[in-house]
Amino acid sequence: MKLLDARRDHYRRLAREQGYRSRSAYKLKELNKSYRIIGPGFYVLDLGCAPGGWTQIAVGLAGNQGRVMGVDAAYVEEIPGASLLRASVEDKFLVGDIMDYFGRRINAVICDMSPSVTGNWSVDHARQIALNYSCSKVMDKVLTSGGNAVFKVFDGDYSEEFRRYMDGKFSRTKITKPKASRKPSSELYLVCMGFRR
Ligand SMILES: C[S@@+](CC[C@H](N)C(=O)[O-])C[C@H]1O[C@@H](n2cnc3c(N)ncnc32)[C@H](O)[C@@H]1O
Repeated sequence: MKLLDARRDHYRRLAREQGYRSRSAYKLKELNKSYRIIGPGFYVLDLGCAPGGWTQIAVGLAGNQGRVMGVDAAYVEEIPGASLLRASVEDKFLVGDIMDYFGRRINAVICDMSPSVTGNWSVDHARQIALNYSCSKVMDKVLTSGGNAVFKVFDGDYSEEFRRYMDGKFSRTKITKPKASRKPSSELYLVCMGFRR
């Protein structure tokens, strides 16, 4: 078994053992350790949350005083401590539903969005970045001043432009690839700290 496959298995096994719904859970865990995107008491919105690994991690990080809402176009089985909404990020009523739940602007938006991939990288990349712009539209309305965000980014022609767009909204941004993210995949994570309203 190649080292890479072994590591991949490691996270999958860990997720099974620790009751997380996805190995992706470890990506958020690792990102949060380095950047503290989510802290205790945070109100957190998870866009593109199915099957729910990130939401589970967010619930743990935000704790009893926090609130977490997960949104996905696909069905997500109930997650203790989180509110789940089945909707597209492009739904025009989404912002209203989010604000109804939280009752105020929130502290973090986490986006692990992925389109159904076609296998044609240029198409998949363009669609993934387009989803991120849709998330950003929602984020602009719901994130509080000083809030944080993280976006999965399929790396390609439009990544730099998306990063510059986020640079204009946050005090600091950083592109990173957590260990739990498979090396051959071209996914990166854009961590954004200190939203400027
Ligand atoms: C990689 S998965 C997220 C995994 C999740 N972070 C976890 O840890 O379980 C990406 C998700 O984006 C969702 N998605 C894609 N397009 C969407 C859209 N327009 N609105 C809402 N969710 C969408 C997909 O349904 C999919 O569940």
